[in-house]
Amino acid sequence: MIFAPGPTDPDHVGPYKLTGLLGSGGQGAVYLGQDRTGRQVAVKVLHARLALDPETRRQFTREVSAARKVGAFGTAQVLDVDIEGDQPYIVSEYVPGESLQQLISRDGPRDAGGLRRLMLATAAALQAIHRAGVVHRDFKPSNVLLGPDGPRVIDFGIARALEATTTMSSGVAGTPPYMSPEQISGRDVGPASDVFSWAVSMVYAATGRPAFGADSIPAVFNRVLTHPPDLSGVPAELRDLLAACLNKAPEQRPTVDEVLGLLLGHTPAKRPLRGQKPVALAFTMQVLAVLATLVLAAVSHYGFRDDPDGGERPAPFPWVDGGDPFWLIMLAWLIAGGSAAWYLRRRR
Ligand SMILES: Nc1ncnc2c1ncn2[C@@H]1O[C@H](COP(=O)(O)OP(=O)(O)O)[C@@H](O)[C@H]1O
Ligand SMILES: [Mg+2]
Repeated sequence: MIFAPGPTDPDHVGPYKLTGLLGSGGQGAVYLGQDRTGRQVAVKVLHARLALDPETRRQFTREVSAARKVGAFGTAQVLDVDIEGDQPYIVSEYVPGESLQQLISRDGPRDAGGLRRLMLATAAALQAIHRAGVVHRDFKPSNVLLGPDGPRVIDFGIARALEATTTMSSGVAGTPPYMSPEQISGRDVGPASDVFSWAVSMVYAATGRPAFGADSIPAVFNRVLTHPPDLSGVPAELRDLLAACLNKAPEQRPTVDEVLGLLLGHTPAKRPLRGQKPVALAFTMQVLAVLATLVLAAVSHYGFRDDPDGGERPAPFPWVDGGDPFWLIMLAWLIAGGSAAWYLRRRR
């Protein structure tokens, strides 16, 4: 949707003519603009005047030039940046179409097919962003624009650059319901944080609710840090994948490459979904232990009883030879294996 600019809106920044207002968010207002050649562009005019000591300026320039190198098929390219003037701005490709946020809030959740297509397209865009060495840091439904030729991810890497140069109005880069536990608690933020925010956004697309709710900021933060995600309403075949991406521990989440492999149905054979491995291991150990006990019992019972000389030898493993101790051992194995598997599954 394009709004007419109001009386306080600028009609130019730098060489760009601003013709309409596309929307506004935490970082600034976004205008539809035209460059010198008449091409339509999106111009984000930042709220804050940037504090520009030479080091932060260099860092900003570095971040933005990395963002410019991102493969362009699933993103809106960053075209131009000016952070020197009174009105700093960032120019990117204009994507005609509404955001995922607007679509879901108007039309409701996607069906399973639509959701899988959306997941594939946005994960592929995120893969291109990560391959360029950029962390998005603000992946959320309003940063996914649904263009005529497919979804485009926007605003990547900019949150970090802005964080380095200004104090944002909220004091944090990122948008509360979509922030990862490490982002909330001020720890190192890497590509795994984007995987988390991506999954919260996909749960929103599947159900109309972000995975940890969207009520008050403290309530959401508390759930992100300590509660399991609410995946009710997510199609069953996508639930495990999204749950793995929403692991509280960044190193336990699949990478975006692995996410794509899983979505396409060829799970990288060497590494199954992290977090499921210990569960499978606990079950296997349990089955092996029960089998071993049974074999010992059988050997003890049938194998060595009859002495060729006619007498009866004592059983080699009397403790497994039927009777109470045997069944107690079996029961203990089952309880130990079962609780180990339950505990490991809960920790996921
Ligand atoms: N490249 C673009 N092309 C078209 N519309 C855009 C573009 N960038 C941003 N917009 C629109 O401007 C709105 C505001 O963007 P932004 O300031 O990043 O806030 P937020 O992402 O928090 O909603 C977006 O929701 C989107 O509708
Ligand atoms: Mg945005």
